[in-house]
Amino acid sequence: MIITVTLNAAIDKTLSVPNFRMGRRHRTVEQTTMAGGKGVNVARSLKSLNQPVIATGFAGGPTGTRIVEQLTEESILNDFVRIREESRTNTSVLDPTTGEQTEINEKGPAISGKELELFRDKLLYLAQGAEIVVIAGSLPRAVDPDYYADLIRELRKLEVTTIVDTDGEPLRHAVRAEPSVISPNVLEAEELVGHEFNDESDMLHGVRMMGELSREAIMTVHDGCFASLRDPEAGAMAPPVLLRARIEPREPVATVGSGDAFLAGFVAARYGGSSPEDCLRFGVACGAESIKRLGAGLIEPREVERIVGDVEVARVTEPSTV
Ligand SMILES: Nc1ncnc2c1ncn2[C@@H]1O[C@H](COP(=O)(O)OP(=O)(O)OP(=O)(O)O)[C@@H](O)[C@H]1O
Ligand SMILES: [Mg+2]
Repeated sequence: MIITVTLNAAIDKTLSVPNFRMGRRHRTVEQTTMAGGKGVNVARSLKSLNQPVIATGFAGGPTGTRIVEQLTEESILNDFVRIREESRTNTSVLDPTTGEQTEINEKGPAISGKELELFRDKLLYLAQGAEIVVIAGSLPRAVDPDYYADLIRELRKLEVTTIVDTDGEPLRHAVRAEPSVISPNVLEAEELVGHEFNDESDMLHGVRMMGELSREAIMTVHDGCFASLRDPEAGAMAPPVLLRARIEPREPVATVGSGDAFLAGFVAARYGGSSPEDCLRFGVACGAESIKRLGAGLIEPREVERIVGDVEVARVTEPSTV
């Protein structure tokens, strides 16, 4: 079983508005409303890929009820902690003429200490039957930035693989708890490592450093990813391998959530015991497929199969800096 954690689950409303201009009145030509938040998006993609997944997190008020109902309608197994305050609705306006997307995220509910404890208990209970736990997205406001790190430490005791996709302080704390894999995008990675990456050799160096912080690291970029992964064939003591996966960038419909689709693909392949190369290949194909669809985490597995052969993956070495 795979578990996805979404502490900031939301209702995501995406409005397609051609020639969107600030300060004007518009009509939408298309709109989607779905349960969202990074972990929820990952769960949606995993479900499409026919993987066993349970989505958990916090859900509160009528919006929380709607999140749970929508997931249930999509046949995504879920087990959320109900909270007192109302879950948030995030609105995003997509202008199909420019491809520009404007997002407005509500502040979101405050979570009580008791609710945080309830969640920890629930997750550790669910994790007894899980191989992989994916922790994705931001922390609700005012939650201690060490909260993910604490969950990771507890999950490690259960020998569960922990995969973390977050940023800023929570990510910095999380890596100290040595999760199995971290998966930031390039901006989030730069923030973690503490400097900008100007070229591919900077990126390789950055991903290798991140791989030393946690056990394994992936950094997504718009044309694929860089990664520092362990090759199970090489044995537990072998050093990680550096990899570069690349796909020809495609014209996107909506790129929001492509990182979540990537992660779902990677996790599905890892769960199925694929090689590091094949895990990245499948992840990149899922990310690239998802950008053809409005709505985060939506992928069509047959299309993924069609483009997976277009992803090039190579083992690389970091150029010597001396
Ligand atoms: N224009 C594109 N063409 C092909 N693939 C793309 C494109 N944009 C993104 N992708 C795919 O999606 C994956 C994730 O992209 P990116 O690094 O932009 O994610 P992200 O910033 O984490 O997105 P989000 O947080 O919104 O989910 C990449 O590895 C790549 O495979
Ligand atoms: Mg991301």
